[in-house]
Amino acid sequence: MTADPYTPMTPEQVRLLRDRLHTQGKKLVFTNGVFDILHAGHVRYLNEARALGDAMVIALNSDASVRELKGPTRPVNHENDRAEVLAALRAVDAVVVFGDKRATALIETIQPHIYAKGGDYTVDSLNPEERAALDSVGAEIHILPLVPGRSTTSTIQRMTSDASKGRLRLGVLGSGEGSNFRAILAAITSGQLEADVAVAISDVADSKFLQTARSAGIPAIHVDPGSHPKRFGEAAQKEVADHLQRARVDVVVLIGFMRILKEPTLSQYSGRIVNVHPSLLPKHKGANAPQLAIEAEDCESGCTVHLVTAEIDAGRILAQASVPILPGDTPEILHSRIKEQEHRLLPRVLSEWKKHVSAI
Ligand code: GAR
Repeated sequence: MTADPYTPMTPEQVRLLRDRLHTQGKKLVFTNGVFDILHAGHVRYLNEARALGDAMVIALNSDASVRELKGPTRPVNHENDRAEVLAALRAVDAVVVFGDKRATALIETIQPHIYAKGGDYTVDSLNPEERAALDSVGAEIHILPLVPGRSTTSTIQRMTSDASKGRLRLGVLGSGEGSNFRAILAAITSGQLEADVAVAISDVADSKFLQTARSAGIPAIHVDPGSHPKRFGEAAQKEVADHLQRARVDVVVLIGFMRILKEPTLSQYSGRIVNVHPSLLPKHKGANAPQLAIEAEDCESGCTVHLVTAEIDAGRILAQASVPILPGDTPEILHSRIKEQEHRLLPRVLSEWKKHVSAI
């Protein structure tokens, strides 16, 4: 037996649903979007949005309006199929298809209790017309963050890139904040960096770095360094190498990895391990580089992306960016200014990897 395809609701039917909920003291959540190729980022966003109320309706852009918004090659999936897939999700109670560029008229008809929007918006940067409609129906507005590393555009790019075999598989090692890692993920999502993070490895089990990997759906591995605060023993070195090999990593990226990487990885990935360091190497190698730059009364500092060899912070320099040291700078202030440059420099070096490799 085959089930009938889903029939999207009309705005009037959704309004009846809203009114029924209202009389029960319950709330209808409304969100809108294209939802062309569903990925885990959508699912998590929709679950979060649904949790704001008691039922949720999705206003789905019609095929014609998607073409207007995203160009002639989109959507990949027809509006009825997109509606059917969405309606099958646990978080979704109703789908309504709309053809206008804006959801204003729909908001006015449905009068949702809660409006959820994903992404880089703030309440003030919402479309003024939609915002006015929401205010006039008294809807609460919630902006929910998007899940890093997931987007329909990056999924399509991965599927259609004729170099899909040529995409770099990155193995990323970090111990701390993971801000450079997030910059890499953002560059992948935007299509600036044609790569995939195949594995993320850390010596710190509860690091933000590993949390970022987990929430982006990337295999996140903690390698136990043992009890010594600095050493990374033979067993740990071997475990890292095994994970990198198993994940078929092409390039190893060290971002704030506070242990020294040794054999067998150094040989297995010779010329294919990069590190980002917060100084203009060869100045201020090792730990606390921003502090060393201030103590040395340098007038500028910066960051270096370089190849990793057995000698610490001494491998071939691939790229550098400088920042001024300003009066009153503390090591923390200077470091955050340096990091802004790192977030640009590291994805750029990786996106130009083939050029760098041929120059080695
Ligand atoms: C970065 O600034 C990186 O240059 C530095 O650790 C920070 C990691 O930040 N690395 C070193 O000092 C290595 N000697 P993040 O975890 O936010 O990316």
